[in-house]
Amino acid sequence: MRWWDIEQVTHLEEVLFPADSPWTAAMFWSELAQGHHYVVAREGERVLGYAGLARSVDLAEVQTIGVHPSYQGRGLGRNMMDNLLEAAAGLPVMLEVRTDNTAAIALYESLGFVRLSLRRNYYQPSGADAYTMERKA
Ligand SMILES: CC(C)(COP(=O)(O)OP(=O)(O)OC[C@H]1O[C@@H](n2cnc3c(N)ncnc32)[C@H](O)[C@@H]1OP(=O)(O)O)[C@@H](O)C(=O)NCCC(=O)NCCS
Repeated sequence: MRWWDIEQVTHLEEVLFPADSPWTAAMFWSELAQGHHYVVAREGERVLGYAGLARSVDLAEVQTIGVHPSYQGRGLGRNMMDNLLEAAAGLPVMLEVRTDNTAAIALYESLGFVRLSLRRNYYQPSGADAYTMERKA
């Protein structure tokens, strides 16, 4: 992901997470400025999906992942997750996911993530619960 992708990514974010405080352009700018690992799936100039990973010395965290609704179910999400896990380079990886997000949970479990704990009212303003999931190094 480059700075010029942020406008399209922010639009996708608003479509995909309307009830859970979608990230703003400023938040994506900040993520890129911090040097976190962000990727997009493109078709020509068009951004079809995006995903990001934050790394520290001993841990990596999936910050976000989303695919345009018309392009879901075609392997883009798995492809971007494979990229993030490669970038995690052997670190344990953590993420949060809504407990009702069966598609994302199936994707994460197929990649070796397991549920660690339940976080009630994690997402706002929806109040939806989240699982914290971990993939061991
Ligand atoms: C979750 C998301 C990123 C997956 O991306 P995608 O491109 O649709 O997923 P893929 O086509 O690569 O499928 C990967 C796996 O996800 C799971 N999956 C995808 N769609 C699914 C569905 N409708 N029901 C159940 N599992 C599903 C399957 O395990 C699938 O693996 P398989 O194809 O080997 O069966 C996408 O659905 C999305 O953007 N959802 C809205 C935003 C979101 O919820 N992001 C995650 C926040 S934690």
